[in-house]
Amino acid sequence: MGAFSPEMRERAENLLTLYPQRRSALIPLCHLAQEQAGHLTSPLMEEIAELTGVTPAEVYGTASFYDMLHTEPVGKFLVGVCTNVACLLQGGGELLEHAEASLGVAAGGTTEDEMFTLEEVECVAHCDKAPAVQVNYRFFGPLTGESFDDLIAKLRAGDYDGVVPPHGTLIRVMRENGIEVPLDEVLAERKEMDRAKAERKAAAEAAKEGN
Ligand code: FES
Repeated sequence: MGAFSPEMRERAENLLTLYPQRRSALIPLCHLAQEQAGHLTSPLMEEIAELTGVTPAEVYGTASFYDMLHTEPVGKFLVGVCTNVACLLQGGGELLEHAEASLGVAAGGTTEDEMFTLEEVECVAHCDKAPAVQVNYRFFGPLTGESFDDLIAKLRAGDYDGVVPPHGTLIRVMRENGIEVPLDEVLAERKEMDRAKAERKAAAEAAKEGN
């Protein structure tokens, strides 16, 4: 059995059909894996490698480069407190200090119950609601220490289920309609593209040898 659940595997295969090159789906598939497991486990990275035709090391190399991808476990809720200029001027630094004291972890840490990972983040484009906080890439603000604690209590109690999705879920609306191309057509097109590419390469090499 694969690392992706059957439902996620189906979504992964659907995602692959959206890209002319399988490897272009690498990052979307990493987000999908995070939606399932919270972080990129080795078996998930191996399955992504198999699906995209790259090596597991390339998946790891990509995942470890981007801040939004996690190769180590993170909490159910990734809480980012912005301390960039607009938020800093509105008390972002103090809010981060409060968050650290309130959650009992320094920025970068995860609470013992594995519910929250606290991060200090750069501008999250929510400056008009400074100081801003993002939770699993959904935005809140302006927050005070009190409203931060209230937010945490509500997240813990499940009051925001449905508003704040599982970690890794970036899209707001799942695509259920639109252009649908049968998988065999996509595969046939890819085969044709590979054939044309090989032909161009052979022609270029022949031209080089002729010079
Ligand atoms: S500076 Fe904090 S959201 Fe832009």
